[in-house]
Amino acid sequence: MRTKRSVVGWMSAAIAALAVAGATGMVSAQDTIKVGHYGSMTGKEATFGQSTDNGIKLAVEEFNAAGGFNGRKVEVITYDTKGESSEAGKAVTRLVTSDKVIAVLGEVASTLSLAGGAVCQEKGVPMISPSSTNPAVTRGRDYVFRVCFIDPFQGLVVAKFAHENLKAKKVAVLYDQAQTYSKGLRDEFKKHFTAMGGTISGDEAYSSGDQDFSAQLGKIRSGAPDAIFVPGYYTEAGNIALQARKLGIKVPLLGGDGWDSEQLAKIGGEAIEGCYYSNHYAPDQKGELVEAFVKKYQSKFGATPDGLAALGYDAANILFDAMKRSKSLGGKDLRDAIAATKDFKAVTGTITLDKNRDAQKSAVVVEMKGGKPVYAATVEPTKK
Ligand code: PHE
Repeated sequence: MRTKRSVVGWMSAAIAALAVAGATGMVSAQDTIKVGHYGSMTGKEATFGQSTDNGIKLAVEEFNAAGGFNGRKVEVITYDTKGESSEAGKAVTRLVTSDKVIAVLGEVASTLSLAGGAVCQEKGVPMISPSSTNPAVTRGRDYVFRVCFIDPFQGLVVAKFAHENLKAKKVAVLYDQAQTYSKGLRDEFKKHFTAMGGTISGDEAYSSGDQDFSAQLGKIRSGAPDAIFVPGYYTEAGNIALQARKLGIKVPLLGGDGWDSEQLAKIGGEAIEGCYYSNHYAPDQKGELVEAFVKKYQSKFGATPDGLAALGYDAANILFDAMKRSKSLGGKDLRDAIAATKDFKAVTGTITLDKNRDAQKSAVVVEMKGGKPVYAATVEPTKK
């Protein structure tokens, strides 16, 4: 009897749920505006995609709650790239051709944004990368935008910090030769640091997914650097820090935005303490927009937002702002509206898109303290 009643109870609840889902499903199929997101939801860079997706979802929720686009709701469709560029191309093709999204948000990793951007450009659908910093991502692609600074600036920021704040004379570099981002940031850092009078005492490479860095670190150690610049992603950076300490290397490691993940301290532990990286924002930074965002994000997701979450939120809000100003939601009109973005007050800074469809913004440097990134300095771009 008990079993029977619960089965009947379950059935009626299920039917009711289906009816509701069916009804809203029909309405949404006609009325929602679809926006795509492609990101590494799994894999070695999983926190990049997950944080970005959370940031986007928060922005969408707020936009819809405030009335959406003339009463129509925005719906985000997210596909996992697993951090692989072949998956990135497939995900964007599916978003554009099957889901018919009006615009695409993503990717984080520059190598993947290059692959996805090629599809958006060919199909005439605007793409906004929240956080890919390699210059090539937007070059020659008038449908591809970003809301972050680019690596020629980020390389300068880290070089300046090493030279002025750490008073480093000799810095060694250990970069990821399989990532466009890492190679570009290495080149920019070397250029700026040597121009400041510094010496590059070692220049070693690894490839994404490598586990053993002892040969490269051994060579770096023999050059006795004052710091080591590791312009890679957090999984390898954490492991490199661990192995460097095992080899008796005590100097600070420096990184770029690719270090930004709660996993960095989980992997690196004590080894990453006192190390620094440049980033787009720091959660403990002062400012009304940052503080409001951190509070809302914490209450929704129960975690402190990293830079990726903030940039995902900003990219989505820039798209919504452009939609409101656009003549139509067609690719060309929307692209023109995004290109006209000016003085948009975002969490990660005030955004004006330049003629290369990039943003010029300040960067922050954070220090790893007690397993968390703590705000250390802000570096402004030089006005052109
Ligand atoms: N800037 C990195 C790239 O272009 C991606 C990244 C951005 C990673 C922000 C972490 C934080 O590949």
